[in-house]
Amino acid sequence: MDNSSAAAPAFAIPRIGDKAPAFKAVTTQGEIRFPDQYAGSWVILFSHPADFTPVCTSEFMTFATLQPKFEEANCKLVGLSVDGLYSHIAWLRTIKEKISYKGMKDVEVNFPLIEDITMEVAKMYGMMQPGESSTKAVRAVFVVDPKGVVRTVLYYPLSLGRNFDEIYRIVIALQTADAFSIATPADWRPGDDVIVPTAGSCGVAKERMESKDEMTCHDWFFCTKKLDKETVLKTILKK
Ligand code: BEZ
Repeated sequence: MDNSSAAAPAFAIPRIGDKAPAFKAVTTQGEIRFPDQYAGSWVILFSHPADFTPVCTSEFMTFATLQPKFEEANCKLVGLSVDGLYSHIAWLRTIKEKISYKGMKDVEVNFPLIEDITMEVAKMYGMMQPGESSTKAVRAVFVVDPKGVVRTVLYYPLSLGRNFDEIYRIVIALQTADAFSIATPADWRPGDDVIVPTAGSCGVAKERMESKDEMTCHDWFFCTKKLDKETVLKTILKK
């Protein structure tokens, strides 16, 4: 069957390793071209169900407060919901002027928030999941690398606020894996041992197990080594 003239699917999920689907959009910070405009930076594209809702408000306050940490890791933030621009502007102003929550107040959201009333981008990124809601995007997170490649995908339901420490950990772990050609074990944080070599190269692990390299081999397929926190952070974080 020749699908070359078929319309774009109403629902697609960009997968890990795919190029992030490209789009132009209007945001609270002007027009953006995604992902081209972010070439050379990591970027998190995330959706929220609706402006003026409580879970989303707690998330935006948290993400905006953490933005300097993400910037230090060369990672930009881009939000999206299927609300319009004036709703976004009014909601972000309300957050800044009126909401005080968990020690956060006067929170200014400086990253772009996409208006997507046509749901075009939301559909392109699998953010509309009708079993959960046909009118609101789910809480999606796409971590895109400096070459515009999708590196991690997360989806959360409407009722569940995201863990932004985990999203930060994902960015740092991906950057560490790229910079040091290692993999990161369960619950890894900078300073913890890392896995070497990366998954799929067990032959190398066996060789290393027999060598005098400074590694701990738990078995032929599972070797770890030290990678100190300072080395990781010095390599990854901007001064
Ligand atoms: C919230 O952010 O609180 C929310 C949004 C949509 C549905 C349910 C909760």
